[in-house]
Amino acid sequence: MSRYQDVRAQLLAAPRTWLVTGAAGFIGCNLVEALLNLNQHVVGLDNFATGHQKNLDEVAASVGEEKWSRFTFLRGDICNLETCRKAVSGVDYVLHQAALGSVPRSIEDPLTTNASNIDGFIYMLVASRDSGVKRFVYAASSSTYGDHPGLPKVEDIIGKPLSPYAVTKYVNELYADVFGRAYGMQSIGLRYFNIFGRRQDPEGAYAAVIPKWVASMIHNETVYVNGDGETSRDFCYIDNVIQANILSATAENAEASNQVYNVAVGDRTTLNDLFEAIRVSLLPHFPHLQNFKPTYRDFRAGDVRHSQADVSKARTLLGYEPSHRMAEGLKEAMAWYVNDLS
Ligand SMILES: NC(=O)c1ccc[n+]([C@@H]2O[C@H](COP(=O)([O-])OP(=O)(O)OC[C@H]3O[C@@H](n4cnc5c(N)ncnc54)[C@H](O)[C@@H]3O)[C@@H](O)[C@H]2O)c1
Repeated sequence: MSRYQDVRAQLLAAPRTWLVTGAAGFIGCNLVEALLNLNQHVVGLDNFATGHQKNLDEVAASVGEEKWSRFTFLRGDICNLETCRKAVSGVDYVLHQAALGSVPRSIEDPLTTNASNIDGFIYMLVASRDSGVKRFVYAASSSTYGDHPGLPKVEDIIGKPLSPYAVTKYVNELYADVFGRAYGMQSIGLRYFNIFGRRQDPEGAYAAVIPKWVASMIHNETVYVNGDGETSRDFCYIDNVIQANILSATAENAEASNQVYNVAVGDRTTLNDLFEAIRVSLLPHFPHLQNFKPTYRDFRAGDVRHSQADVSKARTLLGYEPSHRMAEGLKEAMAWYVNDLS
């Protein structure tokens, strides 16, 4: 039995209370859904800066009334310490996802990104420390690898950050580490690579590449590729992220705690190959994609050229075994988008 199967069986037998911040966002709402399906008690906190009520409504419908009754939602801002204290009260595990994502957003507006991602983070840390949570698991980022050219990325070797967003995510790691040393707090940082899946927002200037391209292809609009299309990423399906969070919160081996881990698959896909994979999977539903081509434009400031994770640390210390490679994840995600967007 894998550690993940084991942990899920234990949680089903003895439910815990979890706080998911950013619960109305893409990753947060998927975590809420997975936890409710394990009969856990879940508190969600979000200020709807980029999250949507629709995501929560969809989770409510998918888990059913009985499981949904174990969910409590707080609308509020993590930049308010009292809100954080209220949210974390009585909670065993925190899965801290609330932050403003997107490299270009942070380049255009570093102050707002800093407020949610650094001020909000330390408020959540202080509130979690004071209420004595068992573990604080937080969304870190592959952007922390910055300008280091080495591939695959291993946790200990990072370069200089290339954007304000990357600075904020690295500062999170530094704060979490110091809270471990200074206060004995238990935390785990998960350096997400490019995450995708159901309910990821295709709208807005800062949408991630997969939902943005899917929506554009479905609606027969121009798909822009930044650069020559040979930029590559380790695209990681949401179910792997759910697994990594649950394994991190519940890890009992001492050496697993107060660490950061890559959360990805360990593969590398170019944007050109991604475009083709999405086009081919949508083609049966949308014949206008038969000869559909992307439009190339300039590289985007702050983007790293290549990204691929070494996930052996998470495998060894957490028992992480990615359940979906990119193609398997795309298949599931496309089915969701075809239903949601057409
Ligand atoms: N999606 C990815 O590929 C990826 C990659 C690396 C890291 N991450 C990190 O994962 C986390 C979740 O990302 P996501 O893709 O689900 O983004 P998302 O924008 O869908 O979700 C973030 C949620 O946080 C909420 N939020 C933002 N600021 C807040 C504040 N001040 N107070 C309360 N709520 C606030 C938003 O309303 C939103 O619902 C973020 O920390 C992000 O930086 C994501």
